[in-house]
Amino acid sequence: MQSLLNKKIVLGISGGIAAYKTPELARQLMQEGASVQVVMTEAATQFVTPVTMQALTGNPVYTSQWDSSISNNMAHIELSRAADAIVIAPASADLMAKLSLGLADDLLSTLCLARDCPLLLAPAMNKQMWEHAATQRCVQRLAQDKVTLLGPASGFQACGEVGMGRMLEPSEIAEQVIAFFQKKTLLGKKVLITAGPTFEAIDPVRGITNHSSGKMGFAIARAAVEAGAQVQLIAGPCDLATPLEATGKIVRINVTSAREMHLAVLNDADYDIFFAVAAVADWGIAKPSKEKIKRQGKDAPSIEFITNPDILLDAAKTVKTKGGKPHPYCVGFAAESTDLEAHAAEKRQRKGIPMVVGNIGHETFGSDLNQLLVVDETGSKKIAKAEKLQLARQLITLVAKKI
Ligand code: CTP
Repeated sequence: MQSLLNKKIVLGISGGIAAYKTPELARQLMQEGASVQVVMTEAATQFVTPVTMQALTGNPVYTSQWDSSISNNMAHIELSRAADAIVIAPASADLMAKLSLGLADDLLSTLCLARDCPLLLAPAMNKQMWEHAATQRCVQRLAQDKVTLLGPASGFQACGEVGMGRMLEPSEIAEQVIAFFQKKTLLGKKVLITAGPTFEAIDPVRGITNHSSGKMGFAIARAAVEAGAQVQLIAGPCDLATPLEATGKIVRINVTSAREMHLAVLNDADYDIFFAVAAVADWGIAKPSKEKIKRQGKDAPSIEFITNPDILLDAAKTVKTKGGKPHPYCVGFAAESTDLEAHAAEKRQRKGIPMVVGNIGHETFGSDLNQLLVVDETGSKKIAKAEKLQLARQLITLVAKKI
């Protein structure tokens, strides 16, 4: 699935060492289906060559407003007229200052002033420059002008310092550009999500877990942030990066056991939607050993199980009615080996929740693809096989209509 299909992006590059990452950003935007038109300031050409950008994007690179290759000689109008967005990475302190004042003394700044499309900036500068009152004034002015800032991040800088002002990684910028184009169906909403497996310890080195990869839950978290929500992601042990972390719109809490997950969920009372995507262990170990259980001289140990709390069931008990609708809106998931529709409908009744989403085919663990069966008060309907992120976006649209 390409999330930027048919999008035309003008990729601006201003003069900063972070420009060495921009070719990778261009490549990622194109992999998502965007066509990329590069415009560079003269200073940017000191850090990355127009030839590199032209070779990668397959489009001529413009660096000057006096370029006569554009028929009417109005590159600043022509280039922005065709664009769905202008993304500038890196955006230097100097360029941000210019844009905040409406100055237009080269092609890139003129293009921004003459634009009729959104402008997204990925700032990159030394920490002192970022923290300077003048830069912070520009940041405020740009926000008033509805310019979107992607980052910056805090971390190791080319100048040797550590602090705020580092440009986001190309993958983070691409993720945010994709998010920018998604419909904001959950603006101002709070979403709680459990994802991944749980791990029930037998002793310090052994335990019981399951095949859940966490991919579906993380895809829903990403789609919810894309839709404008503030997300709390409670994740069991899984090796997945937190989606859209740099937006500050997602808080991840890592837990191990079902009981820890239960506590984390019940601790958070203030949310509009709960997606219980985690594959929670139904049983925990009654008395996990503090020391590793030794094999030598022992028969196979007998392990006593205890029933874990049902997180979704307990969360559903807190539901109230708000404006005639259940609040929070709880969505359960079901992975079954037989009779998916009947089991999903039974779970919906038993847990007292308005929607259960079934994974069609329980072999989808770890896969990027899935196929869903949505069971709600209207009956059941299939969502055709697709990438989990695509399914997650469809689910978010569906649930947004319900609340
Ligand atoms: N769930 C939960 N807490 C549990 C068990 C399940 O929150 N202790 C949630 C899951 O996250 C999922 C839904 O309940 O959203 C259904 O989980 P599932 O394991 O399929 O159902 P169970 O209630 O455990 O029923 P069964 O094992 O009999 O199928």
